[in-house]
Amino acid sequence: KRLLVLNGPNLNLLGKREPGIYGHGTLDDAVKLARETATEKGIEVDEYQSNHEGELIDAIQQAEGKYEGIIFNPAAYTHTSIGLRDAISAIEVPVVEVHISNVHQRESFRHHSMLAPVCQGQIVGFGLLGYRLAALALIESLEGRR
Ligand code: DQA
Repeated sequence: KRLLVLNGPNLNLLGKREPGIYGHGTLDDAVKLARETATEKGIEVDEYQSNHEGELIDAIQQAEGKYEGIIFNPAAYTHTSIGLRDAISAIEVPVVEVHISNVHQRESFRHHSMLAPVCQGQIVGFGLLGYRLAALALIESLEGRR
């Protein structure tokens, strides 16, 4: 079994990018947290990051049949992308939306997610730990312990 950790625009800069908001951890650190939790359960984790909306849509389409779940931080596209929402709707694979920062404490344009209604759930505001929590949530629900 495999999970995909999918990250959207500017998350390649984690660790350097607005550390007051996102902390000093890197994207590798985030993936590592998810992978540690998955490995304990015998599940493998792949990762993909893109700054391009279409490439993220491609990755979601290609996840069908390959992954049991997707941990997805759509970054700024969270708030804008009908295309990503339609891609998630088009697949059977469950998606957990993750945000490192508590978007509800920030600008009002970050309060709305286009994607949340088509995701299994959302984890917001726990920093990089959110990636671990998302892995745990997906795995436990896959095991029917929801
Ligand atoms: C983010 C929150 C988004 O509003 C923002 O555009 C990001 C990161 C987060 O992880 O807190 O790039 O998704």
